[in-house]
Amino acid sequence: MTASTAARSREVWAAGDYQKVGVRLVPCSEQLVADLGVRPGDRVLDVGGGTGNTALAAARRDADAVCSDLVPELLEYALRRAEVEGLTIGTEVADAGELPFPDDSFDVVVSTFGVVFAADPEQAARELVRVLRPGGRLGLTAWRPEAPGGRLLALLARHDPEDAAGEPLRWGTPEGVQGIFDRGALRQVKHSERTVEFTAPSVAAQWQRYRDWFGPVHVAWERLDDLGRDALEREFSDMWGSFTRGGGPGIVVPNTYLQVTGVKAG
Ligand SMILES: C[S@@+](CC[C@H](N)C(=O)[O-])C[C@H]1O[C@@H](n2cnc3c(N)ncnc32)[C@H](O)[C@@H]1O
Repeated sequence: MTASTAARSREVWAAGDYQKVGVRLVPCSEQLVADLGVRPGDRVLDVGGGTGNTALAAARRDADAVCSDLVPELLEYALRRAEVEGLTIGTEVADAGELPFPDDSFDVVVSTFGVVFAADPEQAARELVRVLRPGGRLGLTAWRPEAPGGRLLALLARHDPEDAAGEPLRWGTPEGVQGIFDRGALRQVKHSERTVEFTAPSVAAQWQRYRDWFGPVHVAWERLDDLGRDALEREFSDMWGSFTRGGGPGIVVPNTYLQVTGVKAG
């Protein structure tokens, strides 16, 4: 990633208030560390860890977790969350494409909806594997392209192509993610489709949350003119409205993602 691309990604993800939307992903983090069998004393690296969802989930299982991310402000938030919970985690400002750790230094490497934004997916995949010890476990999550999470990323890429980093939708299908990792780098690879339910008091409230708090939507909104803003809001609202399940108050939206686990060969 060039210095200017990294700086822009940092600005995008520092905008808004990521924690307020990211907290909805806690069930995905808990599921992933449970499926990976994270154990006390495991050295765990969370890549693109944001405000710490998955590093904290690992720390709740007494692992020795490090949360890494491009954005220092998000890591500071992760430390505050750890303190409130009475947990200890480490943090490191790091680009997923250039991890500042020696080869084979972790028992477990995870990334929930994080590494998918790396500018060069193949380079980032090599980095995830490089820092993992042989026999160590890798776990990733990425939105399925047809799910609301994937549809939102496609919508943003159309409305604000300049800020669309990486190729997040490629990571969300078994065929796509298989093509990103070097052949033979991982064994016992498992692809699981999972769903997390997103709730909001209304579609309008969901839009406000994303516009105000989710960096990529926030910066797209700021960049667009009135016509562009209207179109983005309308398409966002139509999409979330179309996925809502059941009657009753508020919206309940099943958001489907791919969970990938594997073991480093060698
Ligand atoms: C959707 S958030 C996911 C955060 C967290 N893993 C979670 O589950 O809540 C994406 C995260 O990836 C980070 N990110 C984006 N590009 C990155 C890169 N090239 N290297 C490291 N982190 C990156 C962002 O700063 C942001 O925290």
